[in-house]
Amino acid sequence: MKWGTLLSFGCAAMQFLIPYTNAVPTVDEYMQSRSTAMQADDATILGGSMTLSDSREILVNSILMTLKDKEYEEGLDSNGRFFAAAQHFFHSKAAIDGSNVFKIIKMMPKGAGLHMHDATVGDVQYIAHNLTREENLYYCVQGWDHLLFHFFETQPTEGCSETSQWKSVARLRQDASSDEFVDNWFLSSMSMVTPTPEVAYPDTNAAWDLFEKKITTISGVINYEKALKDNYYQILQQHYDDNVMYVEMRGLLSSVYKLNQEELTTLDALTLYKETTDEFVRDHPDFWGAKYIYAPHRFHSPDSLQEMINNASTMKSTYPDYFAGFDLVGQEDKGTPLLGFLPQLLDAASKDIKFFFHSGETDWHGTQIDENVIDAALLNTTRFAHGYALHSHPHIYEMAKRNNIATEVCPISNQVLRLVEDLRNHPATNYLREGFPVVVASDGPGMWGAAALSHDWYMAFMAIAGKRADLRFLKQLATNSIRYSAMNSVEQAEALGKWEVQWDDFLNKVIQEFSTLSDACMGNEV
Ligand SMILES: *[C@@H]1O[C@H](CO)[C@@H](O)[C@H](O)[C@H]1NC(C)=O
Ligand SMILES: *[C@@H]1O[C@H](CO)[C@@H](O)[C@H](O)[C@H]1NC(C)=O
Ligand SMILES: *[C@@H]1O[C@H](CO)[C@@H](O)[C@H](O)[C@H]1NC(C)=O
Ligand SMILES: [Zn+2]
Repeated sequence: MKWGTLLSFGCAAMQFLIPYTNAVPTVDEYMQSRSTAMQADDATILGGSMTLSDSREILVNSILMTLKDKEYEEGLDSNGRFFAAAQHFFHSKAAIDGSNVFKIIKMMPKGAGLHMHDATVGDVQYIAHNLTREENLYYCVQGWDHLLFHFFETQPTEGCSETSQWKSVARLRQDASSDEFVDNWFLSSMSMVTPTPEVAYPDTNAAWDLFEKKITTISGVINYEKALKDNYYQILQQHYDDNVMYVEMRGLLSSVYKLNQEELTTLDALTLYKETTDEFVRDHPDFWGAKYIYAPHRFHSPDSLQEMINNASTMKSTYPDYFAGFDLVGQEDKGTPLLGFLPQLLDAASKDIKFFFHSGETDWHGTQIDENVIDAALLNTTRFAHGYALHSHPHIYEMAKRNNIATEVCPISNQVLRLVEDLRNHPATNYLREGFPVVVASDGPGMWGAAALSHDWYMAFMAIAGKRADLRFLKQLATNSIRYSAMNSVEQAEALGKWEVQWDDFLNKVIQEFSTLSDACMGNEV
């Protein structure tokens, strides 16, 4: 026995009894300590403490890992060119859709979606193609190419700018040489998808400018009371179809209007969402439900923020089961940091309003913006939205980990908005491997043509968590999504029970559909 081996058994006292001759281990000894080190290294990964005991789970895991290894091998052989998870999502989506790992993730019951926004989550194809066919819709081109929409009872006399008039969409469709041309124009005005994202969005600010412009285009359609209901119903459907059974959406609750141009109060807008949720649950009894995070823009004045917080308090008492809490949205780098609203936010805390702060969605470490992570933590945020910069705040990171404050990691959003190019370099690799409480979420999947959740889970599984993350990782992501949701403990227990039934069903389905395929991959007799 040699020195090194003794150390690994922790027999400190014995070190002195054996003369130190040669510290170099034999190959066998080396391999033994290597395997111990690797096990220790993998033990902290999200899901690492879980054991798969069900024989079907073990089989599904081996199917999944065979397929995952195959994608890794193709990626390695091609120096990453054929590794979809290393590419920009706009380049890799078709390949991902064809991936068997993705197909399994799609089938998987994923629990809850905990980070998405009113104007960016909905499928833009549905908004551009279906909702623009509603009656009374008008369009107006502002400046060079900024398309705006609005529903009016009659043709307005004022334009959207001095030089542009509102024109009827129905008339445009009648007069256009092809309906498809109109559909494509509308769609491209709302979608971030482009074959050349590097050119269209050269940096974070450029990406955000276009992102916010497209949000204005979309909002004119979906803020109309009737369209808002249809769109939200469709959003819930999108999640349901992607095997996500519960959502916590963030929204502005402002500028929602009736045909007579009267605006709904924020409380009435929330009522509309609540009623639509109830209707969806009636139509889909196996859907668990939804809650709402009121998230106005961070560019408001402290005074109007105070008014919003007072209103949030009313929302909470009116819909204690539906209203989840408060957040602020908009590009962190440009708006007021949390510290700028400290008195108002402390007042909100005293009113028992829970926070779900966007914080640290930046790579400007050490700046005032990046400090949002500190303030979110000290204000006792329930979750960090993004927390991309958490890794540069070791004290906050440790504190959050200890207190079980989860962070919502949104891989594709971070890529589209230019925080990271190759998702293998996402800081969440550290969070996921090191046991930080993480949920993976989608942010604005409708605007980048992603599924409600599955593409983000694929990216997390393939690119961020690394090659050895297995079924336990995905299972933990699903259970985390319930545990870190705003559901109360009774609702969580009920959701978990329903999820377990779905999981069981999922195992059977994968075995049925994929076991021969994976045998073929492994070169076994089929
Ligand atoms: C949207 O319109 C298309 C084409 O008319 C139709 O096939 C589809 O069912 C519509 N989608 C919804 C959700 O209504
Ligand atoms: C707060 O609520 C009142 C009453 O519903 C409404 O009139 C007002 O516009 C709301 N304030 C803000 C800033 O949303
Ligand atoms: C945050 O929680 C701690 C511990 O419960 C408490 O002492 C502190 O007052 C809270 N801070 C705010 C802003 O609510
Ligand atoms: Zn967000």
